[in-house]
Amino acid sequence: MEPRLQRRVQRYGWNKAADFYEDSWKEQLKPVQDKTMEVAELRPGEAVLETACGTGLITFRIAGAIHPGGELTATDLSDEMVQITGEAADDRKLDHVKVQRMDSEELEFGDEQFDAAISCLGIMYVPNPQRSLDEKFRVLKSGGRTVIATWGERKNCGWADIFPIVDKRVASDVCPMFFQQGTGDTLAVALRNAGFKKVETERFRVTIQFATEEHAIMAAFAGGPVALAYQKFDEQTKMEVHEDYLKSIEEFRNGKGFDIPGEFVVARAFKP
Ligand SMILES: C[S@@+](CC[C@H](N)C(=O)[O-])C[C@H]1O[C@@H](n2cnc3c(N)ncnc32)[C@H](O)[C@@H]1O
Repeated sequence: MEPRLQRRVQRYGWNKAADFYEDSWKEQLKPVQDKTMEVAELRPGEAVLETACGTGLITFRIAGAIHPGGELTATDLSDEMVQITGEAADDRKLDHVKVQRMDSEELEFGDEQFDAAISCLGIMYVPNPQRSLDEKFRVLKSGGRTVIATWGERKNCGWADIFPIVDKRVASDVCPMFFQQGTGDTLAVALRNAGFKKVETERFRVTIQFATEEHAIMAAFAGGPVALAYQKFDEQTKMEVHEDYLKSIEEFRNGKGFDIPGEFVVARAFKP
């Protein structure tokens, strides 16, 4: 897909997903967010950049870890996500948190400003992931670190058929490279290409639980990256994709709900 189009699909898709995201995914993504926080080893007083902050599920944990004295700039491509996180930061009276709309491939900062650059589950959506990592390298101070979390290999993510099910009914792939960075050592290689050293990655399996069919369907279609394509479907097509998706996860059924396997990769790397 042409990068400009992919960016638009992401921006407006996540605008649609924003209101459903936390109800869909909050519990399910906790293990990867915990690991991201653990590996980041944030300290009070640090200057941190977060890209692809979404609704702020990890933003406010970062804000707590660097307080007092630290500053967090949280960024996301989606206007809605930025609005939700910005309002939540205001409600919490967090003066040390700024939230800005920004593409992670084009960071609007000078060189060497941050101690840490963190992105949890954003890199799968970026048209040029290498550029997004190069940009993090550029804005980090010498000795600074990046922590990047992504979904793992396609074969280890039981919900992965969502993409072909939707793609079959639209003109182009919704997330053409979703599993690329989580496959083999792709992410580690890209981090080294950006100039990072001491690159470490951890790959781990999880079970993604949804208590009902409705929750599994909401998470797949309304609260995730295919939301833009999905909301344009007519009612008949929506029913068809629900049916196809439930069939694709049937082997993971547990009573009324599902226990779906998933895999994440979390990488940490340092700027020399
Ligand atoms: C799965 S959500 C992750 C949100 C949050 N980090 C979390 O862990 O819950 C993915 C986010 O990536 C953002 N995104 C997609 N493409 C992006 C880009 N090129 N630059 C910055 N953010 C992007 C989306 O708008 C969305 O909010």
